[in-house]
Amino acid sequence: MYKFLLGWYKKFPEYKSRSLFLSGESYAGHYIPQLTDVLLMHNEKSKGFKFNIKGVAIGNPLLELDRYIRVTYEYFWSHGMISNEIFLAIKKDCDFEDYTSGDPHNESKSCNDAIDEAKAMVGEYVDNYDVILDVCYPSIVTQELRLRKYVTKISLGVDVCMSYESSFYFNLPEVQHALHANRTHLTYGWSMCSDVLNLTGKDVYINILPLLQRIVEQKIPVWIFSGDQDSVVPLLGTRTLMRELAHAMGLPVTAPYRAWFRKGQVGGWATEYGNMLTFATVRGASHMVPFSQPDRALGLFRSFVLGQRLPNTTHPPID
Ligand SMILES: *[C@@H]1O[C@H](CO)[C@@H](O)[C@H](O)[C@H]1NC(C)=O
Ligand SMILES: *[C@@H]1O[C@H](CO)[C@@H](O)[C@H](O)[C@H]1NC(C)=O
Ligand SMILES: *[C@@H]1O[C@H](CO)[C@@H](O)[C@H](O)[C@H]1NC(C)=O
Ligand SMILES: *[C@@H]1O[C@H](CO)[C@@H](O)[C@H](O)[C@H]1NC(C)=O
Repeated sequence: MYKFLLGWYKKFPEYKSRSLFLSGESYAGHYIPQLTDVLLMHNEKSKGFKFNIKGVAIGNPLLELDRYIRVTYEYFWSHGMISNEIFLAIKKDCDFEDYTSGDPHNESKSCNDAIDEAKAMVGEYVDNYDVILDVCYPSIVTQELRLRKYVTKISLGVDVCMSYESSFYFNLPEVQHALHANRTHLTYGWSMCSDVLNLTGKDVYINILPLLQRIVEQKIPVWIFSGDQDSVVPLLGTRTLMRELAHAMGLPVTAPYRAWFRKGQVGGWATEYGNMLTFATVRGASHMVPFSQPDRALGLFRSFVLGQRLPNTTHPPID
């Protein structure tokens, strides 16, 4: 990505002095801080061109795997998706200290049994990336796309089958042509989470907080936000990690935890540490915030790029 950026600025030098914001979601919790760190190291060494980094924003980021695995079951429990008994069994039998992604997760048998039971209780008919959305039926959608190239909408508001539709769409030769994409005629198809890069190797276990610390220390504003309907990288993990990071750095709370607003409604809750590190939830949002709450995502993004705090008041008054 570093080499790509250098090549890109070479081709489009008019962008060299522009503000650069780095953003992503989910696994970007790993690669955006890593990329930012590489760019900052370039800046330290370079006598010439420097990346004009103005901010980093990451949504539902994977920052420390152990933490998220642990709170996933707390999230399920608090949303009525697993029983008291199974939650208590997981709390008693699992330590999640050196959890591994593959079975048997480097946990005791009783822990693995409890995890299996929890998964059975949650069931397959729930989207773990947004526990309140309806679920897509892939077999129906993919068949409709094959036959008619469009799908029958099955949900109100958010289109829960969008990932299947976008896979279909981005693999259309005319779409790739229009986007100037895939000009080298790759031998494999486009997919949302490509297997070409091994994103689930040992990299997944790296703790990212020290990298975030280095970025904040260089006075780059960091925004970490979290769609609150996500059980895969739940806010319960991210919120605690942000507090721990702030404590480790000695950053005081510079904006108290409060609701933030968008168009007269609560967009979520937010807090800020050391005038530099913002944590915000996005109410009713999935793992991919702009997908399920596009307008709240826009409000958040706007404040981020303008370098402003999220609005903590609204009009008119409620009563
Ligand atoms: C499994 O867990 C133990 C104890 O927590 C730890 O010492 C060991 O390194 C872990 N193994 C793997 C493969 O993570
Ligand atoms: C790239 O294009 C080729 C056809 O030239 C197609 O078979 C392949 O699936 C495409 N790959 C990607 C990643 O889009
Ligand atoms: C990904 O993993 C596979 C199998 O473990 C390996 O063959 C391949 O070289 C890896 N790819 C990369 C980019 O590391
Ligand atoms: C709202 O934000 C402003 C500006 O950051 C701050 O001065 C004020 O204390 C905040 N109000 C509440 C209720 O948190």
